[in-house]
Amino acid sequence: MLKRTTYLTKRYDAGGHTLERYLADGGYDQARRAMSMTREQLVNECKAANLRGRGGAGFAMGLKWSFMPPQVAPNKPHYLVVNADEGEPGTFKDRTLMERDPHSTVEGCIIACRAIGAHAAYIYVRDELHLSKDRLWGAIREAKAKGFLGGKPFGVDYPVEVYVHTGAGAYICGEETALLNSLEGRRGEPRLKPPFPAQAGAFGMPSTVNNLESIAAVPAILAMGGENFSKLSSLHPKDGGCRLFGVSGHVNTPGIYEACVGLTLRELIDDLGGGVKGGKLLAVIPGGSSTPILRAEDVVDAPDAQSPLHPWHGQSVLDVPMGVDTFRALGTMLGTCCAIVLSEQACPVRAMHNLMRFYRHESCGQCTPCREGTGWIERVLDRIVAGEGTMEDLDRLMEIANSIMGNTICAFGEGTAMPALGFLRKFRREFEAYIQTGGRSSTGRLALSSGSSPDGSSSSGSSPDGSSSSGSSPEGSSRTEVRA
Ligand SMILES: Cc1cc2nc3c(=O)[nH]c(=O)nc-3n(C[C@H](O)[C@H](O)[C@H](O)COP(=O)(O)O)c2cc1C
Ligand code: SF4
Repeated sequence: MLKRTTYLTKRYDAGGHTLERYLADGGYDQARRAMSMTREQLVNECKAANLRGRGGAGFAMGLKWSFMPPQVAPNKPHYLVVNADEGEPGTFKDRTLMERDPHSTVEGCIIACRAIGAHAAYIYVRDELHLSKDRLWGAIREAKAKGFLGGKPFGVDYPVEVYVHTGAGAYICGEETALLNSLEGRRGEPRLKPPFPAQAGAFGMPSTVNNLESIAAVPAILAMGGENFSKLSSLHPKDGGCRLFGVSGHVNTPGIYEACVGLTLRELIDDLGGGVKGGKLLAVIPGGSSTPILRAEDVVDAPDAQSPLHPWHGQSVLDVPMGVDTFRALGTMLGTCCAIVLSEQACPVRAMHNLMRFYRHESCGQCTPCREGTGWIERVLDRIVAGEGTMEDLDRLMEIANSIMGNTICAFGEGTAMPALGFLRKFRREFEAYIQTGGRSSTGRLALSSGSSPDGSSSSGSSPDGSSSSGSSPEGSSRTEVRA
């Protein structure tokens, strides 16, 4: 059942970014309280919240915090690193928090620093997000002027500083170890793990990397208590709380919405996204472009009572609660929880081509299967889209994607191969029809009428298949209304 909340988006109206407004809502009370709590108490509160990291992998935040060494060794300072890179196509939720309510992130940083034994937090933001950077720096200055940050926050001898660090805008710099390299002034290339950041992270010191939404939720967790936060979710205790849900692509009201964990895709698309625009629903990419696509007619097949999906056996995938584990069991991922909707007027061949161009461009090039594989995938798709593909090309694409899986330094490889395999498996018939007709099958014809989107408007490359779609893409998100 759709349960909307306003713990994260309460101040999304005009003026919500000011300290005055934040204080009026009890802002910084929890940071003050945290200064009198022990690390263990804070970590336990966070564990009880069962918040699964909002950056994409869905790792439990409390558990991650508990990996930090219990004692801060001399000459080994701990760091908090907040990941606000948000380069995933279709994802634009962290940006709304930075622009509309930056103080919740700053307060979350103070509490998290206290919990992991750190005295400094770095928020990594891509440089083109000018308003986000300004709002974060503004909030840091305001908090400092009030004595909430600095040498003695709230008069307690536990210094905390928060910095905004800008990145030049590379998707791979969202991967936590590439981000750490970039933060240190090195090339933004992922590191081999282990060591994990809790052992050797920023500047070789024990560090925790968390997504910005994960950190912004911390004051709310403390205010209501971890367990109460967790119980908001219909998937409590495995996947707790409330979170930001994004919806873009072919929907009437694209945007960012806050609701309890456990919302279904049908509720996200129909109730929050205002329904599908331009025909019936064809498919959904559930959590950013790296998550395998689901078709509208897919049905849950989980006869085994032990399966986490058994309660929804025989039901549409659109009615499964959106959770980290439920969507993994569906063969996809919840990722960033920002769905991209494709109506029946979208061309899956062109949509896959559009995404794979992005991945080829963003591979950092360290691993051969990723560097070469993404290029091959793009070139084969170029050929298919041009109407010159063969049936063998489909098997070739499967083979290339399969050879990337599991053979790379970082998860970018899987993040490319899994959606590629997803498109090929779910739309095999459409790909074959496209190839057989040289791109003149029904969807192919639409796709190849270059410069035109299905509704006849001019193409600006912003929708899932490269056609125009009124402000619903990540690039177009400045025009996307945010509905709290
Ligand atoms: C290619 C790639 C890009 C990523 N981009 C982001 C990003 O922009 N923001 C983010 O929070 N996490 C991103 N991640 C996930 C991070 O590596 C990391 O898991 C996350 O920041 C941890 O925060 P969380 O536990 O709070 O989710 C990315 C991962 C990969 C493999
Ligand atoms: S998988 Fe791709 S992006 Fe990740 S390290 Fe290897 S080449 Fe770079």
